[in-house]
Amino acid sequence: MNSAQTTANPEPVQVIAVAGAGNGSGRTSVAVNLAAALANRGHRTMLLDGDPALADVAAALDLHPRYGLADVIAGRCDLASILLDGPSGLRVVPAGANQSRLTALSAAQSRGLIAAFSDLDETPDVLVVDTAAGAGSATRQFIQAAGEVLVVVGGESPALHQNRDLIRALGGRAGHTRFRVLVNRSDDSCGAEVAERLARLTEAEVEVALHYVGAIPDDPQIERARALGLPVVNAFAHSPAGRAYKRLARRIESWAPPPRHRGGAAFFIERVIRSHQPMQCQAST
Ligand SMILES: Nc1ncnc2c1ncn2[C@@H]1O[C@H](COP(=O)(O)OP(=O)(O)O)[C@@H](O)[C@H]1O
Ligand SMILES: [Mg+2]
Repeated sequence: MNSAQTTANPEPVQVIAVAGAGNGSGRTSVAVNLAAALANRGHRTMLLDGDPALADVAAALDLHPRYGLADVIAGRCDLASILLDGPSGLRVVPAGANQSRLTALSAAQSRGLIAAFSDLDETPDVLVVDTAAGAGSATRQFIQAAGEVLVVVGGESPALHQNRDLIRALGGRAGHTRFRVLVNRSDDSCGAEVAERLARLTEAEVEVALHYVGAIPDDPQIERARALGLPVVNAFAHSPAGRAYKRLARRIESWAPPPRHRGGAAFFIERVIRSHQPMQCQAST
């Protein structure tokens, strides 16, 4: 793969991969609502659906994509034409039918995909990536390429063990050394305890640091907003969940900006493709 063609994209993008063990933990809900909360705060935000099996991002926003990233890879359409408009200026990259083919791109396809992202007229400040549950190969690629990983956990013990296994698969040697932990369906103080338990479980086994970033309460307004095809931060901004997402977006603004060498969206895609390598250890989820 020739990276020379990506050098035209100077602005680094903050890439936040939303991960977590087990379906139903709330990854898509977090990705959509966090992206919307950041867009509401004026950030140029892109939301990439990295869970092709479920392709839930579009459904959560009542979008009906005809094509997705898989079609861009297959050369059936260009990237600009698959982008969809979400609320508050949010730009959505739908998954398409079979994004797992990211693992088997030819050199020419890789170059094409990277060029597609570098040629985009719009350059996001933030790219939020929704990922599939566990540590399958496409998810690993997205996560290894991201600057920040937000692990969404519920409070139950089995979920803590599954997330410990997930972090073990993604962290340590050649992986991430820092994970952000968001506890879903919890209040802030219970969330802090859950995050502390997860940190104790994990840090004893893997050389990683876990940082608690807050909790999202169990809030029926999330489902009501989803039924309207809207993020809860837009539909019910003053609901408990809406307020929690606004707090989370403000907290994320205080994270260190991505270093310049990480580059823009095209560089992220380049890292996704490059990171296709054998796993060092297996997740048990
Ligand atoms: N904090 C919450 N309060 C109430 N409902 C929630 C909350 N978080 C997620 N949900 C709902 O739970 C369901 C599963 O969430 P989802 O984001 O699809 O999980 P995942 O992507 O991890 O499989 C969805 O219907 C979502 O709207
Ligand atoms: Mg999902």
